[in-house]
Amino acid sequence: MSHIMLPHNANANGSVHGGDIMKFIDNAAGAVAMRHARTTVVTASIDRLIFHLPVFIGNLLTLKASLNATGRTSMEIGVRVEAEDLKTGEIRHIASAYLTFVAIDAERKPTPVPPYRPLGKEAERRKREAAERKNALIAKKKNTKP
Ligand SMILES: CC(C)(COP(=O)(O)OP(=O)(O)OC[C@H]1O[C@@H](n2cnc3c(N)ncnc32)[C@H](O)[C@@H]1OP(=O)(O)O)[C@@H](O)C(=O)NCCC(=O)NCCS
Repeated sequence: MSHIMLPHNANANGSVHGGDIMKFIDNAAGAVAMRHARTTVVTASIDRLIFHLPVFIGNLLTLKASLNATGRTSMEIGVRVEAEDLKTGEIRHIASAYLTFVAIDAERKPTPVPPYRPLGKEAERRKREAAERKNALIAKKKNTKP
């Protein structure tokens, strides 16, 4: 997904508001999740979001989202955010994020998603790393239960 950054995307400093970028990330990842699940999906968590550089008004913001792994009802989507200076063609890596979406049925209960089979070494690496993040999240949840 690509969007031109306009004045209404600005924060008080004149650069692009982080919250706007977060919404674009959620939308791009949600489209990938829904396209895979072909049913309603909800954002369960944003596992990691790092802003490396600011985005400026007039930049073309491009979000590249891909399915990394599926569980029974959940999907991990990775998003890479890039900003292009349209006058110079310079492209900068702005942020990366991992989001987990869960497919839900008409009663809003988690419902199974088709399994994802990675094709190629890069996709296999992403799937392996997604599994490591999910295991870490489960372990953290267990340790923080009241
Ligand atoms: C996400 C939600 C459907 C999970 O429901 P739940 O009853 O807790 O689900 P379960 O414990 O049965 O887990 C279902 C799956 O979700 C995953 N999951 C649940 N909470 C999660 C979290 N915080 N982060 C990542 N994954 C999570 C589980 O690992 C499981 O995955 P799997 O089936 O692939 O193994 C529920 O918490 C919810 O509706 N949350 C609100 C979502 C929302 O409104 N988002 C913002 C707007 S879209």
